[in-house]
Amino acid sequence: MGELIPLAKPVIGDAEEQAVLGVLRSGQLSLGPQVVRFEEAFAERVGAPHASAVSSGTAGLQLALRAVGVSDGDEVVTSPLSFVASANVCVMERARPVFADIDATTLTLDPAAATAAVTERTAAILPVHIFGYPTEMEPLEALGLPIVEDACEALGGRYADGSPVGGRGHAAVFGFYANKQMTTGEGGMVTVGDPAIKQRIDSERNQGRAPDMDWLDHDRLGFNYRLSDIACALGLAQLDRLDSMLAERQRVASLYYEGLAGIEGLALPCADRGEEQRGWFVFVVQLPPSVDRDETIRALREQGIQSKPYLPAIHLMAYYRERFGHREGEFPVCEAVAAQSIALPFFPEMTSGQVERVCAALRETLEQT
Ligand SMILES: Cc1ncc(COP(=O)(O)O)c(C=O)c1O
Repeated sequence: MGELIPLAKPVIGDAEEQAVLGVLRSGQLSLGPQVVRFEEAFAERVGAPHASAVSSGTAGLQLALRAVGVSDGDEVVTSPLSFVASANVCVMERARPVFADIDATTLTLDPAAATAAVTERTAAILPVHIFGYPTEMEPLEALGLPIVEDACEALGGRYADGSPVGGRGHAAVFGFYANKQMTTGEGGMVTVGDPAIKQRIDSERNQGRAPDMDWLDHDRLGFNYRLSDIACALGLAQLDRLDSMLAERQRVASLYYEGLAGIEGLALPCADRGEEQRGWFVFVVQLPPSVDRDETIRALREQGIQSKPYLPAIHLMAYYRERFGHREGEFPVCEAVAAQSIALPFFPEMTSGQVERVCAALRETLEQT
């Protein structure tokens, strides 16, 4: 067995260490100047008027839903092929996540299915730019409902008009967990066009305090979903190297396309469509339907290669079955993808030799089955 190839690995260097050390030595570890600096730099990066730093992508999604007015008894139309957080936040806000099936090519919310799922109780649409591929936005925007974009996996992506994901004016939420395009350890960012939405998010992340209010005076209910200055300084250092990290992810993706070409029945991530571009986050392939996924994962592990099922369909998770009565067969495109997809090792510093090892091992495993 060769050296272990992990699924993901952050790029952390001197700049990150110095940035964090600087904050530690400054004595101001939270509610300090790094937060605003990080927000402004991030907003500029994606071409959004405003940004709010928050403690996680999940926290950002929850605050964004609240800020666009989702509350008790509402419905939110969203994708069943996502990390569970995007549905959980609807339930946390006492709304019902109403799933609609995905497009078989891009794996994002199918606009026709989403449109058909809208009722008079629909308070928002929550498209998920899954595996970094941007959802087709125009048909969703035509519905005239508030939109919260789950862009946790899509930093660096571009919509069909060529503009960066996060700059369309809707609340768009990014995540900075350590496997993401850039990391703050844990953390998130909400970008938005409307200053009133930013103001509400800024208040609710900080126990409901209005910007002009005194310490310990609060005019609404809120949370502690703040991001520390330590994390924001780390985020600023990561933003500085984001272009090069994205370019490296693109390089690794190209190597995978070459190395996995021609394997019968193996579906690779869809190609970009013109200006519409994926922000590379994971390399997810769908195994042929006849192949046992668990066996494949085991065979790769035996060769020192990490992989995992990615992602399970949310509506078929135990909690969602029990709470909302979901069953197999409701969203066939999503279910077929969820049953056969695996994420392969994918990170900026991955060498061509490591990609070759993964491709050779997968090819060999699939040929044997
Ligand atoms: C699609 C999607 N939504 C939401 C989240 C939640 O982000 P976080 O883990 O920062 O709360 C993630 C990240 O794990 C994600 O991949």
